[in-house]
Amino acid sequence: MVPPTAVAKGSAVAVKDPVKDTILTPRFYTTDFEAMADMDLQPNEAELEAICEEFRKDYNRHHFVRNDEFDGAADKLDPQTRRVFIEFLEQSCTSEFSGFLLYKELSRRIKKKNPLLAECFGHMARDEARHAGFLNKAMSDFGMQLDLGFLTANKDYTFFKPKFIFYATYLSEKIGYWRYIAIFRHLEKNPDSKIFPIFNFFENWCQDENRHGDFFDALMKAQPDTVRGPIAKLWCRFFLLAVFATMYVRDVARKEFYEALSLDARTYDKMVIEKTNETSARVFPVVLDVNNSKFWDRLERLVDNNAALEAADNSSASAPLKLLRKLPYWIGNGAVMAKLFLMSPTDSDKFQPAVR
Ligand SMILES: [Fe+2]
Ligand SMILES: [Fe+2]
Repeated sequence: MVPPTAVAKGSAVAVKDPVKDTILTPRFYTTDFEAMADMDLQPNEAELEAICEEFRKDYNRHHFVRNDEFDGAADKLDPQTRRVFIEFLEQSCTSEFSGFLLYKELSRRIKKKNPLLAECFGHMARDEARHAGFLNKAMSDFGMQLDLGFLTANKDYTFFKPKFIFYATYLSEKIGYWRYIAIFRHLEKNPDSKIFPIFNFFENWCQDENRHGDFFDALMKAQPDTVRGPIAKLWCRFFLLAVFATMYVRDVARKEFYEALSLDARTYDKMVIEKTNETSARVFPVVLDVNNSKFWDRLERLVDNNAALEAADNSSASAPLKLLRKLPYWIGNGAVMAKLFLMSPTDSDKFQPAVR
C-alpha cells in the first residue's frame, strides 16, 4: 500500500498545513547512498538474512484494515481532546512517513550493489507506508488529511552519514515500539480511556517497529566499528540523549493528549525512556544513567525553558524583542544539555547482562 500523496479535488476532506518545523517536530533524512551500497554485511550476514526472511513473511499484511468501529468515532471527542488527538495523529503520520521515504529511497538506490540490504529496506518501507497511510486515514475521520506529496517535496532533509542514520533510526524504531506497546497495554487495562479505535491496532503495529529496530541492531553488528571504541561511545550517548530529551520536552508540552488517555505524560515518558535505554544496551556500548535523579531534574529544566521559549514566541512583542527574550533560554538549554551529556554513562556489559 502506498500512502496517499494528495487529496482529490472536491473532496470534503481539507488538506492540513504541516506544522511549523521546530527542533521538536519529526525530521526527514537523507544519507550517503554510495557508502550504504558498499557496506560489507559479512560479519553478520546470517542474522540479517534471518531478519529479511521475517520481513518477507509480512505478518501484518491483513492487519491494517479499518472496521465499523471507526464509524462516527471522531464525533464522540470533545473539542479539546479532538485538537490534541489530531496533533498526535499528525506527528505520528509525519514520522512514519519520514521512515517510509528514507527506507524507500535506500532500497531503490542500493538495489544493484547490495540486494539483501535493499530488500530489507524495501520491506520496512512497505510497513511504514501502511502505518502512515492508516494514520492519515484516521485524520480524514476528523475532516483533514496531510498532503504527503507536498511534504515530500517541501520538507528540509537532514543529511546523516550512514552510522548516524543507524543510531537515529534504531532509536526511533525502538522508542516507537515502547511508546505503542505502553499505550496499548494501558488501554487494555483502562478501556474507558480508549478515545479512538486506532489504539486497538497498536499491538501488532509495534511488532513491526520492534522488527525494524532489530534490523538496525543487526546492521550495526555487521559494521562493528559503529558500536566500538571511544568515539562510538560518545555518539551513542549523544543520540540517546537527543532522542530522549526531545521526546520528554515534546510530550510534557502536550500532556493534555496523555491526560485524555488517562496517562500522566511524565510517568509514561519515564517508563518509555527506561525501557528504550535498557533495550539499547543490547547493541550500544554504553547507555545513559537514567537511575540518577539529576538526569530527570535536568530534563525538567529543559521543559521549563521550552515553556518560556513558547511563551516568548506567542507574545505580541516585536521580532527583535522576542529574540532577546529567548536568548537566555537557548543558552540555558545548551548548558543543561551539556551537563546531561557529560553525566557518567552506564557500561552496557555491566548493565543487564541478561539482555545482551
Ligand atoms: Fe512505523
Ligand atoms: Fe518502523
